[in-house]
Amino acid sequence: MGIESHRHHNETARRRWGLLARALTSNNRQTENTNQPQDLISVRRISNFGLIKISPLIDVDWFVYSAGDKFSMKIHHLNQVLTPEDLMGFNNTGNVCVWPSEEVLAYYALNHREEFFGKSVLELGGGMSCLAGLYIAKYMEAARVHLTDGNENSVNNVVQNVKANDLGDKKVECSVLKWGEDVQDKYDIILAADCLFFDSTRRALVHTIWQAMKGNGVGWITAPRRGSTLDNFLEEAQNMGFKYRVSDSYNQDIWDRHLSLKRDCPYYNMDIHYPVFIILTKSV
Ligand SMILES: C[S@@+](CC[C@H](N)C(=O)[O-])C[C@H]1O[C@@H](n2cnc3c(N)ncnc32)[C@H](O)[C@@H]1O
Repeated sequence: MGIESHRHHNETARRRWGLLARALTSNNRQTENTNQPQDLISVRRISNFGLIKISPLIDVDWFVYSAGDKFSMKIHHLNQVLTPEDLMGFNNTGNVCVWPSEEVLAYYALNHREEFFGKSVLELGGGMSCLAGLYIAKYMEAARVHLTDGNENSVNNVVQNVKANDLGDKKVECSVLKWGEDVQDKYDIILAADCLFFDSTRRALVHTIWQAMKGNGVGWITAPRRGSTLDNFLEEAQNMGFKYRVSDSYNQDIWDRHLSLKRDCPYYNMDIHYPVFIILTKSV
């Protein structure tokens, strides 16, 4: 490793430590944290979009996520003490909380349940919950749901979540999948929430989506714009051959929530907090 890249590596590690230390020393359970506004990645003052209610269970670190009366899911939070190895190792952003983009994607999917009938679904970078994919597995008639993340601890937690929910004979798999690695199967629908801001792996993410998607498949991606990060992703996607549609207002409840946050919450910043919805296809 050259001096420059070594320095860059150290800088990245230091930065990661800072992000996580701030996130973890604030409350790990759905409260605001104190990250600096200039930090595009870590600002998390909107810890939850309020579309899915989160209630603690008696079992420590277990919560029920409820969307209305009909759709509920038991989710385990990783309230872990991270070691320096964890912090320096594979990206841990998915073990801090369920981010609003995941919540919004789950909520949107619940409002479009018919789209999943008989479909094979792959979730990428689903973090410690893979909430959207789990809801699809439990409440929709998908042929198959594959829940993935590059972080082993996240995936182990997702395995617990799958076991804790009554998924009957639903076909659900969980595995570690790092973007850029080859994916064996092809899927009808690919999901990713809040995965677009990693500059160093954006191209690998696009590559994996392309490689894993059937010719007539579709990608459902949610993420805040976060400066130029979403546009950079779209540029990569277009270079790969994808067609895309980007929508700010794609669901009335989500949009209303955005408007009320904008009105009532002094630190709400659409650019950082509001998950935009992207549809990716290989053909028009
Ligand atoms: C901000 S978190 C989002 C997690 C979850 N989708 C959510 O919104 O709660 C980004 C996720 O991407 C995963 N990730 C980052 N780089 C990755 C890579 N190269 N391959 C696979 N997963 C990756 C992280 O482990 C993390 O779970």
